[in-house]
Amino acid sequence: MFKTYLCFVIISSFSYSECARILGAVFTPSYSHQVAFQPIWKELSLRGHQLTVLTTNPLNDSSLKNLTEIDLSMSYDTMKAYKADEILSSNNDSVAVRIKKYMEALHVIADKQLAHPKVQDLLHNKRNDFDLLMVEAIYPTQMAFSWWFNIPFIGLISLDAPSRIHAAVGNPVHPVLYPDYDLPFDKNLTFGERVISTLFHCAMLLYTKFRLHAREERTLRKYFGEDVPPINEIQKNMSMLFINANPIFHNIRPLVPATIQIGGGIHLHEPKPLPKDIQEYLDNSSDGFIYFSLGTNVKSAALPPQIKDAILQTFAELPYNILWKFEDEHIPNKPKNVKIVKWLPQTAVLAHKNIKAFIMQCGLQSMEEAIVYNVPMIGLPFYGDQGNNAKVLESKGLGIRLNTEKLEKNTFSNAILTVISDTKYKDNLKELAALYSDHPMSGLEKAIWWTEYVIRHKGAKHLRSHIIDVPISSFNCDNFRYNNHT
Ligand SMILES: *[C@@H]1O[C@H](CO)[C@@H](O)[C@H](O)[C@H]1NC(C)=O
Ligand SMILES: *[C@@H]1O[C@H](CO)[C@@H](O)[C@H](O)[C@H]1NC(C)=O
Ligand SMILES: *[C@@H]1O[C@H](CO)[C@@H](O)[C@H](O)[C@H]1NC(C)=O
Ligand SMILES: *[C@@H]1O[C@H](CO)[C@@H](O)[C@H](O)[C@H]1NC(C)=O
Ligand SMILES: *[C@@H]1O[C@H](CO)[C@@H](O)[C@H](O)[C@H]1NC(C)=O
Ligand SMILES: *[C@@H]1O[C@H](CO)[C@@H](O)[C@H](O)[C@H]1NC(C)=O
Repeated sequence: MFKTYLCFVIISSFSYSECARILGAVFTPSYSHQVAFQPIWKELSLRGHQLTVLTTNPLNDSSLKNLTEIDLSMSYDTMKAYKADEILSSNNDSVAVRIKKYMEALHVIADKQLAHPKVQDLLHNKRNDFDLLMVEAIYPTQMAFSWWFNIPFIGLISLDAPSRIHAAVGNPVHPVLYPDYDLPFDKNLTFGERVISTLFHCAMLLYTKFRLHAREERTLRKYFGEDVPPINEIQKNMSMLFINANPIFHNIRPLVPATIQIGGGIHLHEPKPLPKDIQEYLDNSSDGFIYFSLGTNVKSAALPPQIKDAILQTFAELPYNILWKFEDEHIPNKPKNVKIVKWLPQTAVLAHKNIKAFIMQCGLQSMEEAIVYNVPMIGLPFYGDQGNNAKVLESKGLGIRLNTEKLEKNTFSNAILTVISDTKYKDNLKELAALYSDHPMSGLEKAIWWTEYVIRHKGAKHLRSHIIDVPISSFNCDNFRYNNHT
């Protein structure tokens, strides 16, 4: 199966690896999910591996001769049809209802991606003898490609992993010690938080088995036929799990050797130049400016009106300019000191000498950029891991976390002025940034090294944890198994 030639490599001590045919698949239509893995595709292709990558955000880089991308950007249309932006940005519905609506959109997208003519062609073209699958593991459907092509696979997650995926490779997931990343809890839970975490854990166990997996197994049977194994069984074959976590940022937790933490800013790159008018605006902001962005999934334009009003009133009274990443052309009642922009190279803004603070949704990648450039933050978390990241923001003293749904002018304004005037935030950021850059191997180097390891050994069965096969009947208290056994 392996190509017969060898490709000689430059990075660190290992000298060669056989060139492999790699199938990459990153399901989620979200910039932050895709951007975390782009450096890996790029580097593997430059090292002579032949990559075919299913992605919603193709790089379109014609200099990468060994990278073929299958464009699944049509998935964004489904997100739009399901109003995913508004679901994430508004508080009309309860969290449970919002998650339900969002998962419904993902279910439809999984089906549409499998039905896509180019994906169908890939699946049924017998010439596609891949050696390895590297697949986003947060939504389960595409992991079945490993069974279909009968190849080992590496699971990828652009955040820390949810408990159900940690459990799939054998990592302890005790809800009191390691609350799921979806919960806004840090370490050292209060009694109430322990109860919530445990109930959430049990609910997710049931949801995963009876809803998520059951529904995706129906999709899989539709495209792969009746013999497709249960998702649980497919997951148990995962050779390795790469998570975009990092013990400097995330909670300390025990991990089996098949889990590799590739976090610590894998997506970071040199700042790209700013558009001329923005550069001039920031240069002119000699009293300082504040950067406000809620990332690419939460839309500022879709914020509930009372929150938008509180924000605008606060900004109007601040002695700083505000650069706001906003999706529409206009904001009604926009104060004079606010400039809106649809899209911009964020790292260049954070690297600017006049920046005072960053108001953000607590997306992991944005937080890492702010850490590297020592910019104090105001956290307005919305969904997913953002609540958890906001807790880290607070506990590590990198800024102030606010309750997004109850945002008021006074608290908002006080928080902004505090993070700007109190130097402790910047000191903490400097200390953390120093820890971030002090490591034996970067996240990208680890990802490449372990990928080629799995290629060399045709999987990593010798690193597979026996915990994966412990039956639920022997009730393993430390692990609340997700793997259903009889
Ligand atoms: C593509 O892969 C081949 C070997 O498979 C390698 O020699 C070549 O340098 C690679 N090209 C680029 C542009 O990465
Ligand atoms: C890549 O190409 C697709 C399809 O032509 C386009 O929609 C997308 O914006 C391009 N992406 C980049 C980063 O250039
Ligand atoms: C939330 O409610 C507002 C006002 O009632 C409405 O305009 C908006 O479309 C709703 N958003 C969603 C996602 O249902
Ligand atoms: C954990 O929380 C308890 C009670 O809230 C507190 O007394 C204790 O000091 C905390 N421990 C750590 C390590 O933060
Ligand atoms: C797991 O891997 C083994 C060995 O590669 C293979 O025979 C088996 O079919 C795989 N099972 C699933 C469910 O993918
Ligand atoms: C920046 O300041 C210069 C000089 O005061 C002025 O001419 C220019 O219009 C300003 N640019 C922006 C974008 O505000």
